[in-house]
Amino acid sequence: MGKEFVVAVPTLEMLEDVWIAGTKSGPEKIKDMSINLIDSKKVNVKSIKEAVANLECKLIDKKSYGDHTFFVGEVLHYTYNEEAFKNGKPNLQFNFLAHLAVNEFVIFDEKIYKM
Ligand SMILES: Cc1cc2nc3c(=O)[nH]c(=O)nc-3n(C[C@H](O)[C@H](O)[C@H](O)COP(=O)(O)O)c2cc1C
Repeated sequence: MGKEFVVAVPTLEMLEDVWIAGTKSGPEKIKDMSINLIDSKKVNVKSIKEAVANLECKLIDKKSYGDHTFFVGEVLHYTYNEEAFKNGKPNLQFNFLAHLAVNEFVIFDEKIYKM
């Protein structure tokens, strides 16, 4: 079977777990985290119950650029919280988490600028 991965979209409520996932290495870190792993539908990698979306991917390509590796995946299946994606776009009340720098994170401002 080919290689697979899941992209799980976190919220601010998951910040401590995101930090543990990103600063520790190896599957034992799951014990220090409070996420619940659930079966995915199309891949053998687990999804995260608390994430607002889980993209189940098959690895298509992988390329190294010095200190980074670029992964390309085909999305085979996805699950998401319908409340968090209302009217075809993210519902920012769900505090989608973004990385700012080192140990700093932000959520998106709910003000929307229209053209
Ligand atoms: C805020 C933050 C940003 C990170 N950015 C990257 C990144 O850009 N590239 C990367 O390969 N890993 C990044 N990491 C992940 C960790 O460096 C590392 O890959 C992870 O702890 C490895 O865990 P594993 O060995 O269990 O897979 C980041 C982690 C955190 C917390």
